[in-house]
Amino acid sequence: MTMSADQLRDSFTGFFAEKGHQVVPSASLIPHDPTVMFNVAGMVPFKSYFTGDEPAPYERAVTSQKCARAGGKHNDLDDVGRTKRHLVFFEMLGNFSFGDYFKTDAIPWSWELVTEKWGIDGDRIWVTVHETDDEAESIWHEQVGVPMERIQRLGDKDNYWQMGDTGPCGPCSELHIDRGPDFGPDGGPLGDPFGDRFMEFWNLVFMQFNQSSDGTRTPLPKPSIDTGAGLERILALMQGVDSVWETDLMMPLIDRAQSLTGKTYRVGDYEDRDSFGLRVLAEHARSGAMLVNDGVFPSNEARGYVLRRIIRRAVRFAYMLGTDKLVMPSLTETAISVMGNAYPDLVKNQDFITNVITREEESFRHTLRNGLSILDTELADGPEVLSGSTTFLLHDTYGFPLELTQEIASERDVAVDLDGFNVEMNEQRARAKAAAKGAVDDATLDQYRQVASQFGTTEFLGYTVDDAEARVLAVLESSDTRSGDGIVEIFLDRTPFYAESGGQVGDTGTITTDTGTAEVLDCTFAIPNLRRHTARIVEGTITAGQSAQAAIDVDRREKIRRNHTGTHLLHDALRKVLGEHVKQAGSWVGPDRLRFDFSHYEAVTPDQIAEIEEIANAQTLASRPTRTFETTKDEAEALGAIAFFGDKYGDIVRVLEAGDTIELCGGTHARSTGDIGMVKVVSEASIGSNLRRIEAFTGTGSVALLQRDEALIADLAGLVGTSTEDVAEGVQRKLEEIKALQAEIRGLRSQIAMGRAVELAQIANDGVVVTQVDQLEPGELRELAMAVRNHPDVHTVVIAGETPSGGVALVAAVPKDSANPASLLLKDAAKAIGGGGGGKGDVAQAGGKNPAGIPEALAIAAAAIPDFS
Ligand code: ALA
Repeated sequence: MTMSADQLRDSFTGFFAEKGHQVVPSASLIPHDPTVMFNVAGMVPFKSYFTGDEPAPYERAVTSQKCARAGGKHNDLDDVGRTKRHLVFFEMLGNFSFGDYFKTDAIPWSWELVTEKWGIDGDRIWVTVHETDDEAESIWHEQVGVPMERIQRLGDKDNYWQMGDTGPCGPCSELHIDRGPDFGPDGGPLGDPFGDRFMEFWNLVFMQFNQSSDGTRTPLPKPSIDTGAGLERILALMQGVDSVWETDLMMPLIDRAQSLTGKTYRVGDYEDRDSFGLRVLAEHARSGAMLVNDGVFPSNEARGYVLRRIIRRAVRFAYMLGTDKLVMPSLTETAISVMGNAYPDLVKNQDFITNVITREEESFRHTLRNGLSILDTELADGPEVLSGSTTFLLHDTYGFPLELTQEIASERDVAVDLDGFNVEMNEQRARAKAAAKGAVDDATLDQYRQVASQFGTTEFLGYTVDDAEARVLAVLESSDTRSGDGIVEIFLDRTPFYAESGGQVGDTGTITTDTGTAEVLDCTFAIPNLRRHTARIVEGTITAGQSAQAAIDVDRREKIRRNHTGTHLLHDALRKVLGEHVKQAGSWVGPDRLRFDFSHYEAVTPDQIAEIEEIANAQTLASRPTRTFETTKDEAEALGAIAFFGDKYGDIVRVLEAGDTIELCGGTHARSTGDIGMVKVVSEASIGSNLRRIEAFTGTGSVALLQRDEALIADLAGLVGTSTEDVAEGVQRKLEEIKALQAEIRGLRSQIAMGRAVELAQIANDGVVVTQVDQLEPGELRELAMAVRNHPDVHTVVIAGETPSGGVALVAAVPKDSANPASLLLKDAAKAIGGGGGGKGDVAQAGGKNPAGIPEALAIAAAAIPDFS
């Protein structure tokens, strides 16, 4: 039976839907789970149902899940192109039981689907089970009827599956297809470690344990089923082709790569370099498009870095295949047309995806050329190893991932000095670390831990009150050497002071006891949940055990509130105007301004900024009360709250609703959007690849800005003598006046020069004028010399003169068609005035400091003229 990829997905989910499974759409490639970089298997989105951390909303589910294996424990990136089946991006078909059915159902169902529905010959299937799993073996044999000689027992390496270093795991059982004697010797999967002849295509994991980071395994609440079948591999089987590359998912991409590079693909040839490159192009174009669609941007961090490597690897292969033109735009288009049916959002985001990938290709092609030539030079003499410093240079300056350098070097059998590279990398890291300020030593940390273990952490009151009664737990010398003498750190049992976090700065204010007053300069977390008030004692003393009044600077905090809520409104407006791909990459919220960093691939235009401001201000004008509440993470997500992958939130999260926005946030906020006043963007700039930063003002800040600008305009109007409304016209008029005056000056100057030129032409001797004219600027002298030279009676001119500032200018002008440059005349003459100069054409100029040498300079030049012409 032959099936398209789309039909295969449907047939799989349809089969299990009939068996009571909930059909669940694929989750994003970006996992919620922080222990893996991408979704590496169909089970990842369901991890918490297996572990029992969350109740499963259904007992059975079926999916075709988008997966990527690149970076981290499951990494196939470097094998892509070399083998018949390694892919970075693939889809995993899976049926899942969350403590519902177990082996006795999962095993026969897989057999039924594969042999009956898909018509794969059961006699060609071999089964492996974990060496300890008698139960699975007997189900395969007795219940399903697989003969014992086609059931093999393997150890942990092959038949125990775990998601990562931690997480659900268990023994597994795999189905393999025997592709026949052409592909290797008989003997089943046991004798075929690389799966050349006995290709694995379905894995049934009997989830029974949860592995923790220290390696211990605790039983799951209930045994569960996780299965995974690579869509592309099964497709190859169903379509009767030898590898994933010849399926309807990959072949159109290989075809496109062929037409772009002009190279020919040789099916089944894994030695041929061209075919290798074409497979890499096909795969990476598809995985690149899928990753960008799910919100990954090329960058130097984590996932972004993996994406960058993928795109760059493809581009390098295109380059090696001899293509100078961009290949990714066209390959991306093909990838989207192949995958768009199953994932319609790809089509919706097509322009965006193409844009991001094209930009990366453009920028990489630029550096690639330079880097490759450096590498070529280094490798030309056939060294045994490539030095760590060159590798580091290529990494640091030319954006070559280490792996890329290694790959190119290994093609020429050259090793890379990894130790040397690491030394340079570590030095760079150490430099970066040293540059980061405020490191805390262990002794200080111990003190903080003692405070926390003795008294507990600090209760935060500042969402609702601005001042409060508290007890002083400890007063420590400041660990921060930057802050100077007399600075202490005060710890309280409860406080209205917000400690810097989530981009919002710490509060300032005062702490007062019966015996003294401290001015709080900042509030930060010393260790998680322990708030540290960095303060200067301004009066008396403050000691542990005292009762204190802690009061924040309310006015400053109000400004911070407005800026923080304003940040949320701007974030929302940015997404509305620029697109959903805009993701917060950092922020800083202070009293006088706010800063918001976000992912975006090009500059935001002034029109877009105006639109962003309009959207944000429409919300402040609507003046709706804001609302905060605590809920579970899932509930918050269900409400559509924006949270950031990788952000660490506990199970109970704080949610802020402000205007149209809903976000997880622990900050302090305006009570109503109206409190924010006007939101005004003041700058927009790039802060890294695909990263932008905007800065903005709100409330009193915006008013101050307006006042400043207004004063500026009034001053300008005063200077140009107009009303403020007409200031632009006034400035325009002044500029025109200046232009007219400059033209007039130029005209007058040239008239004067012409007059003088006529005078000087009269002293010409045989068409040569050599003379002194003082009190002209060097430029004027040059004009004059040219004007004299242009007189019909003259062909060669040398003029020297003392300039108004006391220096000397020396100019020579020779016939326009002269074979020698005018500078020859000045070469020796310039020495007499203590200077030098030059010029290539028919006019040369020199400057000097010695007016007394002028006559000699002129004499030398005059003497040179006869030789010259
Ligand atoms: N989670 C199992 C795998 O990835 C099914 O092979």
